Amino acid sequence: MYNSKIIGLGHYVPENVVTNDDLSKVMDTNDAWIQERTGIKERRHVVRGDGDTTTTMGVKAAKIAIERAGIDKDDIDFIVFATLSPDYYFPGPGVLVQRDLGIKSVGALDVRNQCSGFVYAVSIADQYIKTGMYKNVLVIGSELHSHGLDMTTRGRGVSVIFGDGAGAAILTREEDTTKGILSTHLHSEGQHAEELSLIAPGMGNRWVTDIMEDNDPNDESYFPHMNGQFVFKNAVVRFSEVIVEGLEKNKLKATDIDLLVPHQANLRISQFIQKKFQLSDDQVFNNIMKYGNTTAASIPIALTEAWEEGKVKSGDVVVLAAFGSGFTWGSVIIKW
Ligand code: UT7
Repeated sequence: MYNSKIIGLGHYVPENVVTNDDLSKVMDTNDAWIQERTGIKERRHVVRGDGDTTTTMGVKAAKIAIERAGIDKDDIDFIVFATLSPDYYFPGPGVLVQRDLGIKSVGALDVRNQCSGFVYAVSIADQYIKTGMYKNVLVIGSELHSHGLDMTTRGRGVSVIFGDGAGAAILTREEDTTKGILSTHLHSEGQHAEELSLIAPGMGNRWVTDIMEDNDPNDESYFPHMNGQFVFKNAVVRFSEVIVEGLEKNKLKATDIDLLVPHQANLRISQFIQKKFQLSDDQVFNNIMKYGNTTAASIPIALTEAWEEGKVKSGDVVVLAAFGSGFTWGSVIIKW
């Protein structure tokens, strides 16, 4: 048995910055509300027609990660792509990355676990590497939310939060099993599936033709729905539980954490976790202020920026934790 470790990180966000004031021009919202309730100052939105998609953003992040890992694209043995906003209903973006990067015909897997998608994807990559089946795995989290949001006052409880972007990591074999990814922890609670969801079009629900036929101006089923307060309350509990689970599994204490990179859902959630575990500002990385909530992309974007800023050093205990739609949640404990 081996461990896996992250040897390359990259991120890409579209150039177009959308401030809270920009949003207040198209819906009844304001900078003070958004900053106070979420911590978000601005986010990035792909401009329609610019050519960026969930896949192309993922590819751009992946190219940086591959270069920083010092490997060739043909060294990649497997691709895992996490997103809730794929270019096509099918096939998923994994194969599009294989095509666009010109990688030989390796396996490509799509993960649909929303905000915890990257944590799930890392866990999958880790297992393949641990068993020796694959050596180098490309893991991508990428989202293009902005084209599918209700940008009117009706949708403001959701639309102001989400942003576009991508992050990627190269995981490789680590022979020293005291280093690298020490453990991953995954959970779900499907009884709350609809509390944070986008239910149409869906084969088991209403298909595109049904939506067109109904032509109902009050139809909100093809926009994301979130029961914000309920999600928030569950998030703070599950984040805490799954961090404790990971620490206990590795006989670590909160004081051993050098850096916690939480999914960037809401700055207040991160601050709650920080307080609960009595972590200093240096021990928790947040960038939701700049990018909003980029779902499966949020952890790899944040981890990349933390690494670029020198906040992730060899020997550090780095904890990734996420919670989101499903509900699904999880954590990754890393000895860098
Ligand atoms: O990433 C996946 C997991 N997601 C999360 O963890 C998100 C969890 N939830 C949250 O982050 C928060 O619940 C939100 C940021 C979504 C909302 O914050 P909140 O403090 O829970 O606000 P609320 O939904 O209870 O709404 C409070 C008020 C309402 O007005 P009334 O009924 O009190 O008059 C809303 O209509 O704020 C109003 N409101 C807004 N006002 C200005 C909702 N959205 C907006 C807005 N601008 N964008």
